[in-house]
Amino acid sequence: MKYSIKNICCIGAGYVGGPTMAVIASHCPNIQINVIDINEERIKAWNDENLNNLPIFEPGLESLIRKCRNKNLHFSCNVQKHIANADMIFISVNTPTKEKGLGSGQAIDLKWIDSTARQISKYARGKTIVVEKSTLPVKTAKTIKEILGSKNLPKKQFKTQDSEFVVLSNPEFLAEGTAIKNLQKPDRVLIGGEELEAIEALSKIYSHWIEKEKIITTNLWSAELSKLTANAFLAQRISSINSISALCEATGADINEVALAIGTDQRIGKEFLKSGPGFGGSCFKKDILNLIYLCNYYGLKEVSDYWQKVLDLNDWQTRRISKTVVEKLFGTISGKKIAILGFSFKANTNDTRESPAIKICRELLEEGGKISIYDPKVSLNQIKSDLGLEKYNLNNSFDGSWKFENSIIEASRNADAIILVTEWEEFNQIDWDKISKVMRHPAWLFDTRSFKNTYKANYYGIRVWKLGNGLEE
Ligand code: UDX
Ligand code: ADP
Repeated sequence: MKYSIKNICCIGAGYVGGPTMAVIASHCPNIQINVIDINEERIKAWNDENLNNLPIFEPGLESLIRKCRNKNLHFSCNVQKHIANADMIFISVNTPTKEKGLGSGQAIDLKWIDSTARQISKYARGKTIVVEKSTLPVKTAKTIKEILGSKNLPKKQFKTQDSEFVVLSNPEFLAEGTAIKNLQKPDRVLIGGEELEAIEALSKIYSHWIEKEKIITTNLWSAELSKLTANAFLAQRISSINSISALCEATGADINEVALAIGTDQRIGKEFLKSGPGFGGSCFKKDILNLIYLCNYYGLKEVSDYWQKVLDLNDWQTRRISKTVVEKLFGTISGKKIAILGFSFKANTNDTRESPAIKICRELLEEGGKISIYDPKVSLNQIKSDLGLEKYNLNNSFDGSWKFENSIIEASRNADAIILVTEWEEFNQIDWDKISKVMRHPAWLFDTRSFKNTYKANYYGIRVWKLGNGLEE
């Protein structure tokens, strides 16, 4: 075989790179894996003796780190050394939406990919397979190839002075909060590429724990576009069910009953039909924006308009939460205390990127609310940076103020309303009798995630509004 993979380097120790490499390391003890990052703090946290200090929280990650770290899984800032030693390099760096310049607000900012490709081109030695892991715009492989020095050489491979590269696309489909489970038992692995031997080398790694039938191979562009399409379809389902949630509230239907009724039709399927405060996370919005940008670039206005609506509906869904809160609290929340329970974009992660909680908090602050925030995994500093405000408002751009609390009960003390934003399991265990006693009455509970136990709040004298439920309790 042309490629023998003994050393892997992963560039980017984030939500994708960290868990993915931990799972590969645990299944491939004969491969040495170095995860590198330019962020020294992050690498320090990955190497922390205390596993509670790992930079990301993912169920199941700790035990893999305990098993593999410093054996065949290493975290380091030494970019040059580990790129030079690698037979295969995964690119897992950040790919946010561009904030300025051409394609601003839609296209993906490729500056991290660009600089990564330049690092690879500078330091790599010998035959190296470069694998795109981050979600990327279609045709990014072309850019990477060009940077790696393909210009003077034939199609499939290209050489710089003493190195030879081949580029594969291997998009990651893991969802945060279930990343380890998704990586251990994926629905499929997708590998796009032009050179069969390189594709086989990567397939061989996955075949240590994944059945051959689940490994799909395609051309490069199909693999890149499939990732964008998968995320667009998933996001579209959420916007669809969320649109119906509003209709349920207006008509007296219940969105969970509707979801159950339609989901049992196998053609529709029951997954991803949970109505909520709107989708967040680092991927959905970014990928749809990128799809829209691509469509416009290719003159497909109707297609881009279609996907834009998925985003518009999502924004609307989040906005109508704060609007409902203000309306129910007699049209004003000025000076009223509102507890926000849950700040991450979904349960079982400390990630807050595009979390609906950010938008909801900002809108309530603008209305003059006093916000108290509790989340089991998100830190005060993270919330500070997301809201862009100090603990108490000092710059007078908002009338409201916010505070971080370490417990549900403290966040709820004297609150006029509680909003359940993230579906953390511990919110299902809330003792509503106890909470009702510390709230200011008339007290409200806004349940945006259809918790099973919130009907009990009503029994203890709290008025309950449930998203997607037209029958007010
Ligand atoms: C997503 C894709 O699922 C994953 O395949 C891809 O690799 C990255 O993007 P992620 O964003 O981590 O993963 O989480 P996901 O579980 O998809 O949830 C995204 C958002 O949709 C969350 O805010 C979640 O609360 C929301 N959601 C999800 C719903 O509102 N309802 C649902 O039924 C499912
Ligand atoms: P994702 O969710 O896609 O994993 P993250 O933002 O969590 O995104 O992680 C991406 C990581 O990539 C960050 O820790 C960032 O510091 C790192 N990174 C970005 N550019 C480079 C680079 N040129 N070399 C090494 N690491 C990089």
